[in-house]
Amino acid sequence: MDDTNTRGFRIPRSRTFETHQALRDEFMTAIEPLVLNTYSHSAQVRSQLETAFAAEMDAKYAVAVGSGTIALFLAMRACGIGSGDEVITIANSDISTTAAVTNCGARPVVCDVLASDYTIDPDQVEALITPNTRAILPVDLHGHPANVKALRPIADRHNLKIVEDAALATGAHDYGRPVGAFADVAAYSLAPFKPFGSAGNGGMVVTSDEEIYRKLCLLADYGHAPRAPNQPAAYQNYIAEGYNVPLDALQAAILLVKLPYLKEWTSKRRAIGEALAAGLAGTSARTPQLRPESAPTFRSYTICVNRQLEVHQALRDAGIEAVIHYAPPITHYSIYAGLFPNKDQLPVTERLGREIVNLPVSPEFTKEDIDFMIDTTKSILESFE
Ligand SMILES: Cc1ncc(COP(=O)(O)O)c(C=O)c1O
Repeated sequence: MDDTNTRGFRIPRSRTFETHQALRDEFMTAIEPLVLNTYSHSAQVRSQLETAFAAEMDAKYAVAVGSGTIALFLAMRACGIGSGDEVITIANSDISTTAAVTNCGARPVVCDVLASDYTIDPDQVEALITPNTRAILPVDLHGHPANVKALRPIADRHNLKIVEDAALATGAHDYGRPVGAFADVAAYSLAPFKPFGSAGNGGMVVTSDEEIYRKLCLLADYGHAPRAPNQPAAYQNYIAEGYNVPLDALQAAILLVKLPYLKEWTSKRRAIGEALAAGLAGTSARTPQLRPESAPTFRSYTICVNRQLEVHQALRDAGIEAVIHYAPPITHYSIYAGLFPNKDQLPVTERLGREIVNLPVSPEFTKEDIDFMIDTTKSILESFE
């Protein structure tokens, strides 16, 4: 196997390159016209992906953008979040989650998470609502769906929007529907290490709310007013200041080839998670306990251990490309000093930050790969007992 792909790890974070090699001919056929035809073909391919992705997510509309980070930011802006507003979210996430809030001029308010699946604890949300609260921003951490259905009545009672950070969970379902379906708007990352990744960067914003969709289109297209059929081709009118952040068409073409396989890859990720859970049962590692309604994807498989840094290093030394996501909680970052008055009242978030280790999951893993991960992890854990 090519060492540049696995970086020397027997079990790398992702073996997507193997799938990409198998899809080579389909990719080349999809990409060629983008380079050789007129540039307008790019917009068509992007729009085809948007339609197909929205259908996959059981939603009316999708807007393809350059990254999950920009997808979340546009979702916030399209919900009208701005200066002086508060948005309730979690602290054990990527900085893109809170940055989407602060970059709108609003303030993130952090809620503790469930020890079972590390997602926002719906029972603790209502106590954090103030007259300034405008939205809730749950995160489907590691591919575990946050209980957005339980957040819905809280949001409706207080007239709040729900913006779901589904960056890590494309393909996951909850209560029989794709993640994002219970939110007003959801943002997905299409970066390479995500469950549905391109070969570069990408993001998608999905909604069934027409007003939010119109604002997303406006913001993603410089703020230019849509041209009505009776207006001249030269019509120019900007009704907002927007951004130029479309998904690159080459990535859109690659993702269009990949989308029909998403269900199969999600099932494989789920089966790998189940095999790791069964294989590590009875060890000192705590594994995620998902709600019965939840049909997750596993972007990675998280274990909670007592000697986090040593276990992480030992796994890597043994050839398993383990990572630590996300630790420390964002409340510890210098950029956020003084921003979170309740930062010392998040016991579960803090504990996860000290204990979490992420094992790799990739649909291409074989039974031998999984057995190797289980045996190696077990013997590392025993050696630290
Ligand atoms: C939870 C979460 N939200 C948002 C993002 C941002 O996605 P992107 O890397 O595509 O900008 C990430 C990236 O890892 C993430 O983990």
